[in-house]
Amino acid sequence: MEVIDDIYGDFMLFENSDKYLKLSPEKISVPGKVYYKKTTGSTNSDAKNTESVPDKSVFLADSQTAGRGRLGRNWESPEGCGIWMSIYLIPKMDIRNVAQVTLIAGMAVSNVISGTQIKWPNDVLFGEKKVAGILTELAFTKEKEPCVIVGIGINVNNEDFPDDLKDKATSLYIETGKKTEREMLINEILNQFFLLYELFEEKGFSVLKDKYEKRCVTLGKDVYIMNDGKKISAKAVGINEKGELLAEINGEIKAVNSCEVSVRGLLGYV
Ligand code: BTN
Repeated sequence: MEVIDDIYGDFMLFENSDKYLKLSPEKISVPGKVYYKKTTGSTNSDAKNTESVPDKSVFLADSQTAGRGRLGRNWESPEGCGIWMSIYLIPKMDIRNVAQVTLIAGMAVSNVISGTQIKWPNDVLFGEKKVAGILTELAFTKEKEPCVIVGIGINVNNEDFPDDLKDKATSLYIETGKKTEREMLINEILNQFFLLYELFEEKGFSVLKDKYEKRCVTLGKDVYIMNDGKKISAKAVGINEKGELLAEINGEIKAVNSCEVSVRGLLGYV
C-alpha cells in the first residue's frame, strides 16, 4: 500500500491533542492507494480531479471546506472528529448498475456500526438521527473509462452540532459516550465494503437485497416522495433488484429511483 500524504510532517504537532487528533493514513489499508490531506475542499472532488488513480483507492481528509451531500446540499465536515472519505472504483460491471453501489456502501457502514439502520437509499441512522451519509458520483478517467466515486461521511467523535442540525444529526460519541479511533473504523468499513462489492460484482445485487431490506427502516412506512417540487404520499413496500424503492402509490406499485427523489416519513425525518 502506498500512502500519499501531503502534510505528514505536521503529525507531531497534533499528537495527544483531542481537539486536533489527526488521522494516521499509514494505518489505513486498501487494495489501491491511500490519498490523504489534512484539509481539502471535498474528497469526492479530489478523487475526480486526480489522474491515474488505481482501482479500490481511498481519499481521506481530516476536514473538508466544501463537503458535498446529496441533492446539492452541503455536508458539515469539521476537523478531526469525523470520517470524510471517498472510495475510488473502476467497475467491471455495466455502469447502469452503479446505483446499487451506493446502497452497498450504506450497508457496509450500517453493518459495522451496531445499532444503526438505513433510511433508503443510504442515510445511516441512530433512531431518527443521521450519523452517516453517502454521495456516489460517476466520473471518467483520462482514458475515458468510467469510474465510481463513493463519498462516505460519518460523524464519529463530534461532541455537538450547529443549531440547525441538532435535531437531525448525531455522532457515534453522542450515542455511545465513547470516542472511537477513526482509523480502526475506516478499515472495518472498507473491508466490509470491498467484501460486499466483490459479491455484488460476482453475483449481482439480488444476493444482497434481503440483507439490505433487513437493515432498511423505510420499508413498511408511510412516506412522502418528493420529486420536482411535488410531494406524493406512498407506502414503502420493498426494494427491487436494481436497488430501487418499491412504493405503493394509489394502489399501484411503482419503482422509485434514488437519483430522482427524497423520501421522508410522515412523522418526521425517518
Ligand atoms: C448525504 O447524506 O447527503 C451525503 C453526504 C456525503 C458526504 C461525504 S464526506 C466525504 C465525501 N466528500 C464529499 O464532499 N461528500 C462525501
